[in-house]
Amino acid sequence: MRTKMVAGNWKMNMTLQEGVVLATELKNQVVNPSCAVVIGTPFIHLATVAELLKDSPIAVAAENCADKEKGAYTGEVSAAMVASTGAEYCILGHSERRAYYGETYEILKDKVELALANNLRPIFCIGEVKEEREAGKQNEVVKAQLEGSVFHLSAEDFGKIVLAYEPVWAIGTGLTATPEQAQEIHAYIRGLVAEKYGEQVAEDCTILYGGSCNAKNAAELFANPDVDGGLIGGASLKAADFCAIIAAR
Ligand code: PGA
Repeated sequence: MRTKMVAGNWKMNMTLQEGVVLATELKNQVVNPSCAVVIGTPFIHLATVAELLKDSPIAVAAENCADKEKGAYTGEVSAAMVASTGAEYCILGHSERRAYYGETYEILKDKVELALANNLRPIFCIGEVKEEREAGKQNEVVKAQLEGSVFHLSAEDFGKIVLAYEPVWAIGTGLTATPEQAQEIHAYIRGLVAEKYGEQVAEDCTILYGGSCNAKNAAELFANPDVDGGLIGGASLKAADFCAIIAAR
């Protein structure tokens, strides 16, 4: 049975103090979840939040890591540093990183390898922009993203990755993929994994949906056989909303 998961992505929101308040609320409310629960926080929050959540079922993720191992890279945060905080996951390839910070397939390949080398599990994001969806190119886009950054991995390493399909046109826009659209492309992605790594690896691969997933639409998205959970942005910033999404999984 593959892992079902609800992961939050706080993005660049909340001061450390506000983050501690939210993490404390989640710790109190997420006691016996029926799926894996992860929260992705800014680097600044990681050590404090990981310590706060150490005896809870909630794991912590960074939202990024450097594409270099260590050294003279002012302002960067390495995968080893992330791991040293107690974080277990690292969100990589988010469309905001690709679009605003120029993260290419090659850069992401390096980040994925460094995360894995430091025992972090990448939550690797893929997804098409609106024009690509309108042109019917979503399948070729996600295929190129996988081939460009993760399909070179061994089956063992690939097995540590969580995939997140996030159509860029649905992120933060209030537009959600329909359950049918989500299922269709998740099944396609699982098929690509099967072609590359075989049926068992594909069967075990957790594929999250992200993009305006909220307490109202989560259940119908998660009801699809190939949608294993969600990567949640805006709705992960309020404990009640995030908990309702966890309950829907
Ligand atoms: P959203 O963001 O839920 O606010 O649309 C999702 C994401 O970017 O991971």
